[in-house]
Amino acid sequence: MFQENLLKDMVIIITGGGTGLGKSMATRMSELGAKIIISSRKQDVLDQTAAEITEKTGNPVLAISADVRKYDQIENVIAKGIEAFGRIDGLLNNAAGNFISPTERLTHKAFDTVVDIVLKGTYYFTLALGKHWIENKQKGTVLSIVTTYAYTGSAYVVPSAISKAGVMNLTKSLAAEWGKYGIRLNAIAPGPFPTPGAWKRLLPDPRMEENLINRIPLKRAGEHIELANLAAYLMSDFSGYIHGDTITIDGGEWLAGAGEFNWLDMVKPEQWDAIRDQIRKA
Ligand code: HXC
Ligand code: NAP
Repeated sequence: MFQENLLKDMVIIITGGGTGLGKSMATRMSELGAKIIISSRKQDVLDQTAAEITEKTGNPVLAISADVRKYDQIENVIAKGIEAFGRIDGLLNNAAGNFISPTERLTHKAFDTVVDIVLKGTYYFTLALGKHWIENKQKGTVLSIVTTYAYTGSAYVVPSAISKAGVMNLTKSLAAEWGKYGIRLNAIAPGPFPTPGAWKRLLPDPRMEENLINRIPLKRAGEHIELANLAAYLMSDFSGYIHGDTITIDGGEWLAGAGEFNWLDMVKPEQWDAIRDQIRKA
C-alpha cells in the first residue's frame, strides 16, 4: 500500500523493538527505508532481531539495550543513535509490562513495576527526546502504543490500564504544548494481536483466547502487518496533520463490548419473529 521510500532515511527509535509487535513494526519501517534503533533490556534478543531485519531489508538496525525506567540509560540510547545516524526523527513508545491479576493480590511493588515501565518509561523517553529536539530546533514524531482499555479502563489489568490512559493523555497534552516546535504526537490503540509476550501473560489458558476472539465483531485477532502499516503511516509525513489523536485498530472489539444492545447478537432469527410480534401487539 505504500511507496517503497515512504520512510527513506528517517531515523526511528523503537522501544521493545526486539520482540512481538515492536519487532514487526521495526521490520516494516525498515522495509520502507527507515534507519531503526531498537531498544529494550535484553541485548542478545535485540542483536538477533537487528541482524534478522537487516538481512531481510538491507537497511541498518542498531541494537542498544536500556531499561526504560532508567533515565540515564535512555539518554545513552539517544546519544548513541545520534552518534551512529546523525539525528533522530521519530520515537515509537512500544515497550510494556503487563499481566492479569486481581488487583488486591498485587503488592505495591508489582503495581509500581508495570506503571514504571508503561507510563514512566514512555514519559521518560518522550521527555528526553523532546528536550533534544526543542534545543536543536528539530522536528520530530512520537507514536505510542496504548490499548483500547485506555478509553474504558479494564478489570484485572489495572496498573496497565491506568498507565495506558496516562500515555494517551500525555499524547493529547503534549500535542497541544509541543506542536509549535514541530513535534507531532499520536497513539495507536490495538485490540488483540497475538504475540508470545502478551499471550503468555494475559491468556495463559487456550480457552481464554477462544472467548476473546468470539467477542470481536470481525471474529479474528489482528495481523501484525495491519498494525505495522498503520504505524508506518502515522510515523510518516503523509499523516502530517494528524496530531494528538489515538487511532483504534481492534476489529470493533471495544465498541462491541460497550453498545447497550450489542448483546442482542445472541437472538436467533425465529426469536426475532416472536419479539417483533410481541412488540407490535404492545
Ligand atoms: C502478581 C507479579 C506477577 C504476577 C510479577 N509480579 N509477575 N505479581 N502476578 N503474574 C510481581 C513480582 O512478585 C514483584 O513484586 C514485582 O511484580 C516485580 O516483578 P519482577 O519479576 O521482579 O519484575 P521485572 O523483572 O521487572 O519484570 C516485569 C514484568 C514481566 C512486567 C513482571 O512480566 C516483564 O518483564 N514483562 C515484559 C513483557 C510484557 O509484559 N509483555 C506483555 C505486554 S502485553 P514483589 O512485591 O514480589 O517484589 C500488553 C497488552 C495489552 O500490554 C492489551 C492486550 C489486549
Ligand atoms: P512483548 O513482545 O512482550 O513486548 C514488550 C517489549 O517491551 C519487549 O520487547 C520487552 O523487551 C520490552 N520491555 C519490557 N520491559 C522493559 C523495560 N523495563 N525497558 C525496556 N524495554 C522493556 O509484547 P507485545 O504484545 O509485542 O506488546 C507490544 C506493545 O503493544 C505493548 O505496548 C503492549 O501494551 C501493546 N499492545 C499489545 C497488544 C497485543 O495484543 N499483543 C494489544 C494492545 C496493546 P525486554 O524484555 O528485552 O526488555
